[in-house]
Amino acid sequence: LNDSLGLTPHLGWSSWNVAQCDAASEKYALETANKFIELGLKDVGYEYVNIDDCWSTRERDESGNLVPDPSKWPNGIKAVVDQIHDMGLKFGLYGCAGELTCASFPGSWGHEIQDAELIASWGVDFWKHDNCFTPCTSEPFPQTCWEGSIDTRPWYGTMRDAILSVKDSKEMLFNLCNWGRNEVWTWGYDYGHSWRIEGDNWGDWESVVRIGAKASEIPEYSGPGGFNDLDMLFVGNGVLTEPQERLHFGLWAIAKSPLVIGADLNALPESSLKILSNKDIIDVNQDPLGIAAGIFQPPNAPGPVRGEIYPYWAGPLSDGVVIGLVSANRAGTLSVNFADVPGLEGGSYNWKELYTGEEGTGESISFNVAENDIAIVKVTTS
Ligand code: GLA
Repeated sequence: LNDSLGLTPHLGWSSWNVAQCDAASEKYALETANKFIELGLKDVGYEYVNIDDCWSTRERDESGNLVPDPSKWPNGIKAVVDQIHDMGLKFGLYGCAGELTCASFPGSWGHEIQDAELIASWGVDFWKHDNCFTPCTSEPFPQTCWEGSIDTRPWYGTMRDAILSVKDSKEMLFNLCNWGRNEVWTWGYDYGHSWRIEGDNWGDWESVVRIGAKASEIPEYSGPGGFNDLDMLFVGNGVLTEPQERLHFGLWAIAKSPLVIGADLNALPESSLKILSNKDIIDVNQDPLGIAAGIFQPPNAPGPVRGEIYPYWAGPLSDGVVIGLVSANRAGTLSVNFADVPGLEGGSYNWKELYTGEEGTGESISFNVAENDIAIVKVTTS
């Protein structure tokens, strides 16, 4: 959205990949906020504590308002938001465009202004708007439309207008969770600050490949105020290997996706914390240019294959260029002459590999990249 918010991708945590419905509670929200500080995650930029589906009761109250589930929010939501704000952090919440959320809690259909007023009164800083139980045929509710070509724009527009109508000077980010439908990247900027480009990250390697490959087709649609959202991370959940976690995080970062941790911070492995708090890589993600890396084809390299993650990525930074060398489902040596990299000219540059810290100067780089790993090289031009 062209409202001077979300100029870089948002950094935070979400309850969904941690324990789905069970993590949508005050306990998780406050523990996570405390851990942001204790683990140094706030210091490197993580800011949003986002609660996903299942935070409300199954019914609205007599006035039609959403009600925080008292067993999960014994003090209501505003009290938690206030505490999180006092810690210098932000609070995000989830809702759905349809009659129900994806886990069948009340959705915002027909209640958009009322819901926007309620969340604004709680001080909510981020709203994720899902796409379940929206109309997809002439059949009545409830139903979930996973297929088909119906235009999802109208209901995202309704919620956008509702939020804009009540937010006054408040800063609320609006995330379109419509799973890449209707090529949302081509129109998302007029509706929200980030948009999901694909179906869910299910926490398996195939999801990382599917979403990473998709991102390589549409980098040009990301920019300050509107970013391709590759979905919440699965780093630290014990489902990916360490190289896979590096690749997952690194690719999301250079593709300028929001970086939203999806792990239980009480049980985060040291190796995952190290990946998630890599300041150099976060700085690339947060570079003020806000331009996503895309793929480029060096001379003699084979061309991209749809659905696979291409090995060669590059994108401009305000003081240089970031290069990603990816070995998805293969291992090998990946070499690049800087003269072949978009944004660089022939000649010698200083570079740094951002996971190992290795530095050098020269006209090319060459890395041995293990299977499903990534090298992220920042080349400095100024
Ligand atoms: C959908 C969304 C997920 C998550 C769940 C919650 O699947 O895509 O990100 O919010 O709903 O039910």
